[in-house]
Amino acid sequence: MIGQGTWYIDDAHRPTAIAALRCGLDLGMTHIDTAEMYGDAEIVVGEAIAGRRDEVFLVSKVVPSNASRAGTVVACERSLTRLRTDRLDGYLLHWRGSHPLEETFAAFEHLREQGKILSWGVSNFDVPDLEEAWKAGGQDRIACNQVLYNLEQRAIEHSVLPWCEAHGVATVAYSPFGHRNFPDAGSPGGRVLAEIAANHQATARQVALQFLVRQQSLFAIPKASTPLHATENAGAGLLRLTDDELRRIDSVFPRGPMPERLPML
Ligand SMILES: NC(=O)c1ccc[n+]([C@@H]2O[C@H](COP(=O)([O-])OP(=O)(O)OC[C@H]3O[C@@H](n4cnc5c(N)ncnc54)[C@H](OP(=O)(O)O)[C@@H]3O)[C@@H](O)[C@H]2O)c1
Repeated sequence: MIGQGTWYIDDAHRPTAIAALRCGLDLGMTHIDTAEMYGDAEIVVGEAIAGRRDEVFLVSKVVPSNASRAGTVVACERSLTRLRTDRLDGYLLHWRGSHPLEETFAAFEHLREQGKILSWGVSNFDVPDLEEAWKAGGQDRIACNQVLYNLEQRAIEHSVLPWCEAHGVATVAYSPFGHRNFPDAGSPGGRVLAEIAANHQATARQVALQFLVRQQSLFAIPKASTPLHATENAGAGLLRLTDDELRRIDSVFPRGPMPERLPML
């Protein structure tokens, strides 16, 4: 499933960012990801979804420094105000910080009971963090783990993705185009993407996105600042790659050895 990311948005780019998000919604990219950390992004998302709240699966995140029992509740209420909504569909701990997970999760449960969030999860959690989170109140509660995942960064496939699949936790791929480092068209990988894209009257980015969401437990949230980019990204959802094409992509973008630490942006 393909959704939409958001990021720091300055005033000059606000109108096209709003148009991009609305266009994405029109084309079925209803999962919108934001965070209190991304400057004015929550305000921009609030404008983009005005009058369309029920169409959206809206996700925001609390920064770890705010994620105490009381701080999480305050941060969530601040996000709701900025997003001009009464509820979030998902609320995530942005990455592991120093507040005990029990405290953050108790706040998440409190917010859930109040109907201010409908589900909650984590982001940038490696397997030891997930194991701890499971024991700290996360069992059967953690809806997703949002992690860095793109063709050049496949570290999650070693153990995070299998763990999430075994525990019924969705994996949400952030920076699915590698942030600003999408494979160059002239590189060996770029050439393979282009060849596969040509077989489907698609684009290299659409092929890359479809590879990342090839399993049901995988979601991706590319960020697009223009309706043109949003339209291209939404088109990836219609693409079906053959087993042979998946193998070719796998061989030119190998997952590499398991890193000591889960990479983050
Ligand atoms: N949990 C976390 O710690 C974390 C960290 C980073 C990001 N995220 C989330 O993940 C989202 C996506 O990650 P990201 O913004 O780092 O990187 P990304 O989605 O991998 O890449 C964004 C870049 O790709 C370009 N792009 C998008 N669609 C395109 C298209 N069809 N054709 C050409 N270029 C295109 C964008 O350009 P334009 O802007 O010009 O369209 C932008 O430069 C973020 O918005 C955020 O919601 C989460």
